[in-house]
Amino acid sequence: MRPGATPAARSALAERYLRFARVEAEGHSPLYTDWARHVAGSARALAFLGDLQPDRRQPNLFFAALRLVGGLPRTEAAFDDILTREGDAIAAVMRARRTQTNEPGRCACLLPLLARLDGPLALIEVGASAGLCLLPDHYGYDWGRARLDPPGGSGAPVFPCRANARAPLPESYPDIVWRAGLDLSPPDLGDAGDVAWLEALVWPEQTDRLARLRQAVAVARQAPPPVVAGDLTRDLEALIAQAPADARLVVMHSAVLTYVSDPDARADFARLMRSRDLHWISNEAPGVFPDHAKRLTPREDMFLMALDGHPVAWTGPHGQSLDWL
Ligand SMILES: C[S@@+](CC[C@H](N)C(=O)[O-])C[C@H]1O[C@@H](n2cnc3c(N)ncnc32)[C@H](O)[C@@H]1O
Repeated sequence: MRPGATPAARSALAERYLRFARVEAEGHSPLYTDWARHVAGSARALAFLGDLQPDRRQPNLFFAALRLVGGLPRTEAAFDDILTREGDAIAAVMRARRTQTNEPGRCACLLPLLARLDGPLALIEVGASAGLCLLPDHYGYDWGRARLDPPGGSGAPVFPCRANARAPLPESYPDIVWRAGLDLSPPDLGDAGDVAWLEALVWPEQTDRLARLRQAVAVARQAPPPVVAGDLTRDLEALIAQAPADARLVVMHSAVLTYVSDPDARADFARLMRSRDLHWISNEAPGVFPDHAKRLTPREDMFLMALDGHPVAWTGPHGQSLDWL
């Protein structure tokens, strides 16, 4: 029997899609909310997902692949029609690609924390995707009560972010003298197919977000952040060894450790972070490192940003809000 074909596996998948609709998509993407609820109740769609490997069944991966292959269905019937006609092509995209949403808007949350650290800084991002979050000092920010204009002038994105009164908003950029990313499979910003995939991962109604992604891609093409291929559970120490000794090393990640499904591997990573002379910035769903969240009231629709294992702020998963603790 296929791994996803048992009634229990189908029902777990349906539950996962319902949770995605309720916690992640509702209020942000009416289409994804509808699609996720539809998938949860569709034997055909659940069977399609059950045929894929467990790590290839995520709503974001499925919906981006379906849109890339078949366009944007506006009704459940059109959704089913694309899945029936193009199921093989959609499955091929889901096997070949990963959820690599590169959301440079997250820099609106990361930058205020980076700006509090003594520099100059050497920045490593693990799970960097194409590396757009490695350029926080190249973008502009609008936090409502404070603003930083992009250093390179117009053309660079300005990321809006609702910051609470406690958030320490910087008036200048941190001094980042060296940067490097690590990713299982870094998308190439010079490759039209890779960029089309990054664009397909932006939710359909979020046209402002897509426009800012395109601006950030243009910035990154001018100053490409180096991202090497590798696994954060194995290859990080080699990258740390390349960082300049005369800068303060920061290792950061956002929306990444959730893909390291083995809790022991996550714990090993946390141990490595604590054992080295570096700052560690984690910006993840609160369940990823339960230790970071243990004294806080859970907020399941937010990420928790932590510095060196201590919680600092709840952040909007796409960088849209910053609630400093
Ligand atoms: C959702 S994306 C987030 C990208 C980026 N951090 C951001 O916030 O825009 C997750 C990235 O983590 C990468 N990734 C997942 N597991 C990884 C691992 N074990 N080692 C390195 N990269 C990994 C994926 O390839 C993907 O590009």
